[in-house]
Amino acid sequence: MDAEISFKTSVDVARIRRACRAAEKCLRYLAPCVRPGISTAELDNLAGRFLEESGAGSALRGYRGFPGSICTSVNNVAAHGIPSNRELESGDVLSLDITANVEGWHGDAAWTFLVGEASPDGRRLLRAAWQSTLAGIRTAVAGQRMGDVGAAIQEAAHRLGCSVIEDYVGHGIGRAMHEDPMIPNFGAPDTGLRILPGMVFTVEPMLTLGMRDVHVSSDGWTLVTSDGSLSAQFEHTVAVFRDYTEVLTFSHGLLFDTPDVPPGLE
Ligand code: MF3
Ligand code: CO
Ligand code: CO
Repeated sequence: MDAEISFKTSVDVARIRRACRAAEKCLRYLAPCVRPGISTAELDNLAGRFLEESGAGSALRGYRGFPGSICTSVNNVAAHGIPSNRELESGDVLSLDITANVEGWHGDAAWTFLVGEASPDGRRLLRAAWQSTLAGIRTAVAGQRMGDVGAAIQEAAHRLGCSVIEDYVGHGIGRAMHEDPMIPNFGAPDTGLRILPGMVFTVEPMLTLGMRDVHVSSDGWTLVTSDGSLSAQFEHTVAVFRDYTEVLTFSHGLLFDTPDVPPGLE
């Protein structure tokens, strides 16, 4: 592994934290709007305006030509869904991924929501996505290795009968949205890069109810599950300190207060 890691000072982390707060706040603002009848383009508009009013920019808009301010991924779309006029329906599974830029520093977070009436399968998928992200975060402490994080993620997902998409990984973050190192969502304990204080990165496993195979659709963005199965993702940006890992995208309430189900699914 040839990682060019930029280690962050506490001042750097403070700057990244502001961007993370903006992304988190935006997700909390959008959450009650996620209802049958609203389109993902409307959610995108709300997000764009909210970020602007918070003094943040969207790092996604215009990134390699991405047309939205946020990624809106519905059902079999695992990630990078382009906001559209399609209206949400009860039973849909919607992931919102927001990367905020505040004065040149980035924060990245994603949540998945069950729209309207929640199906048993949707609930199982969300629990697994939440638990696997939390398992990864719990393991992402100084002294552990990336393989430990991946193994924890995978184990939590498999426990609830879900698959982990292996083609996408978490990433370092800071002045750039995507930096080294890569944070794999699978792996073997006691392998891979050592986690060290000063690292800031995302934990963002994508799970499916079916197989783990995905492909990019013809629009060049939309990542879909190859078997059409439902997919979900929770993403957090974390900062590693010597004796503590801070979840920068979860400030309101305690993340580990609901270790089993994402807030809102209690
Ligand atoms: N926020 C996404 C991530 O978690 C980045 C998506 S970039 C896109 O890394 F432009 F491809 F959507
Ligand atoms: Co990310
Ligand atoms: Co993201």
